[in-house]
Amino acid sequence: MTAAIQRLILSALFVISMDGWAATASYLDASLSSDKRVELLMNQMTLDEKIGQMCQFVGEASDIDFDSKDTKSDYTLALGDRAGLIKEGKIGSFLKVSTYQEANILQSLAEESRLKIPLLIATDAIHGHGMYMGPTTIYATQIGLAASFEPELAELMAEYTAHEMRATGFQWAYSPNIEVVRDSRWGRIGETFGEDPYLVTEMGNAMVRGYQGKDFSSSTNVLASAKHFVGGGIAYNGVNGAPADVSERTLHEIFFPPFVGSIDNGVYTIMPAHNEINGIPAHAHEEYLTDLIRDEWGFEGFYVSDWMDIQRLESAHRIVDSEREADKVAVLAGMDVHMQGPGFFDNVKDLVKNGEIPVSRIDHAVSKILYSKFQLGLFENRYTDKQTVEATLLKESHLELALKTAQKSMVLLKNNGVLPLQQDIGRILITGPNADHQALLGEWARVQPHNNVITVLEGIKEQYAQGTKIDHVAIARHDVISSAELSRVGRLAKRADVVIAVMGENSLRFDKNKTSAENVDRPTLNLIGNQIELLQKIKASGAKLVVVLVNGGPIASEWLTENADAIVEAWEPGMYGGQAIAETLVGKINPGGKLPITVPRSVGHLQSFYNHKPSAFHRGGFYLSSRKPLYYFGYGLSYTTFDYSNLSMPETMSTSDSLSLSVDIKNTGDMDGDEVVMIYINDKVSTVTTPVRKLVAFKRVHLKRGEKQTLSFTIANKDFALLDRRMNSVIEPGEFEIIIGDRLKVATINAQN
Ligand code: GLC
Repeated sequence: MTAAIQRLILSALFVISMDGWAATASYLDASLSSDKRVELLMNQMTLDEKIGQMCQFVGEASDIDFDSKDTKSDYTLALGDRAGLIKEGKIGSFLKVSTYQEANILQSLAEESRLKIPLLIATDAIHGHGMYMGPTTIYATQIGLAASFEPELAELMAEYTAHEMRATGFQWAYSPNIEVVRDSRWGRIGETFGEDPYLVTEMGNAMVRGYQGKDFSSSTNVLASAKHFVGGGIAYNGVNGAPADVSERTLHEIFFPPFVGSIDNGVYTIMPAHNEINGIPAHAHEEYLTDLIRDEWGFEGFYVSDWMDIQRLESAHRIVDSEREADKVAVLAGMDVHMQGPGFFDNVKDLVKNGEIPVSRIDHAVSKILYSKFQLGLFENRYTDKQTVEATLLKESHLELALKTAQKSMVLLKNNGVLPLQQDIGRILITGPNADHQALLGEWARVQPHNNVITVLEGIKEQYAQGTKIDHVAIARHDVISSAELSRVGRLAKRADVVIAVMGENSLRFDKNKTSAENVDRPTLNLIGNQIELLQKIKASGAKLVVVLVNGGPIASEWLTENADAIVEAWEPGMYGGQAIAETLVGKINPGGKLPITVPRSVGHLQSFYNHKPSAFHRGGFYLSSRKPLYYFGYGLSYTTFDYSNLSMPETMSTSDSLSLSVDIKNTGDMDGDEVVMIYINDKVSTVTTPVRKLVAFKRVHLKRGEKQTLSFTIANKDFALLDRRMNSVIEPGEFEIIIGDRLKVATINAQN
């Protein structure tokens, strides 16, 4: 072969290799935009590799001692087929991974694949990185954050949680749960923000911003996941995953707004609900997933199915007769990532080969998934290390916030003057199933090291000087309090001046005795088991009875409301909940939380929510029972008092304007405190029925004793709108009541065209 031909071949090879290298290298070029990198990478991908990105598996493997050496081979062995699938580029993400070592090993297996596409590692980091197998910061659960009425707290919690996640090699939080709750029997209320669409929207938006930052491009951002779309909070009987049968009007007015808000705040993943909505399973709902959410609301990200919910289109909903059909219906409806397991890959490949799923649908899904991996910087930084883990988990600023979320979530429901407890209170008895229990942590959290959690018993001891007589009777279970325990409490209560009874539920995820949480819904809203019997014993002793409730969903007990001397609703306050509760009881902090969910009189009074329609009770009420709830949404007492005055706003407005108003609030008591100022609207006459009042603005303020502030609010024009008979959003001229708080101040404004 002549030298010239050799040169020609070599230069051709050089060009091809350069092109190849240039093409191969360019998606790895971090100076390019993520969109460009997606385009370049997808041009290189086979159909197998594309479908692989849509597949999610669990990282669970046999127990491995990750402190021993050479864990990669142990874990890789324990992964079985999953290891090979990763190396073939046939898995795009994982969930149920427990340690940073596992995350690193999974990423290293992905780096052995042809295109070295990193994995997304997802977890249910709802109120802290709680599913991680190691001590992490555990904050108050969502329902308590909602009670704080401080979205800033939720945003910071999400930001710090994202930081702990990335430090351990996780990049995707299955959170926030932005379902609106209308049936308090649902076991998952602790992970929601309650019953009001506006409050849920504001809190959900804040968490999306906290997790994702501006565009999830920082090394401490993660993907958020707005969930579950939609209607789990109104499913039949409050049963998780049961059908939701709800009008389009109520969906648009009550259940959709939090998702619109999350999308407006850039949420990049959405998880559909287990349940069907009016006959169509959420996971197969093309009219919602594609036509409404993507095309109308502008959702730019991708969907991840909920656990086995694509398979359940066959096994539970029975809208198809095979898993292959289930995969087809879900992917065509808009589903992008399959949680979890085998079968999906082969089915989708076969469906594409047969032309039943267009490649364009696969390309659309994969482009979104890859975009997130480029944005998160995963191609450049997919590993973590022990130093990063140790430097980030349980950071001082995280721990301080954990305490603050607990303190701010406390709601004082009743106080006949026994609180705050004085230092010279005399003898204290502490008892109840939650007095010394990690149920404080709530759902989606592993049990934490004993020293990392402050229980109520420990918190109270901290607040009292040595020498104060503090008795404790441990109650082993939440549901069955033994006669021995009852009689011991009865005896010790007789010599106590005050009894602190810490009652309620247990939603600890891995606790076999949990009484509520996912798939553990509540047939009663009362204190479960014979907890009331314990309280009656105490009441009969003559001691003052201070009841603290630790729970996710509301607890409805008329006896409790009538007989306790004080009731503090503490929700699930997290790792420092015991300290926050003790500080509340002794007056170190003045409780300023408000109910984010109505407390019905009983389970028989459901559905019970504040923003009901005018005719909800216009014809009497219940036999021998008041129709009023025990406590309305927005209720909460304080150790001080506040006075509202000087509500200033125009008498008329145009239907195209927003409304600006101001109101003075003064702390008229003798203790500093927080107040949540809430503004509601009531459309007095409307062509379709509208709620008796609707929350449209709120602000939590801190006022020193005697201090007065003027607060200003702007109520958006859209808040005056309703959906007319044709479901068009309109603002009708007429009178609107502007209601401050619980009718503390009411003014009427006339909206004119
Ligand atoms: C569960 C929950 C969902 C969670 C998922 C993964 O079924 O419904 O909220 O994110 O599984 O753990």
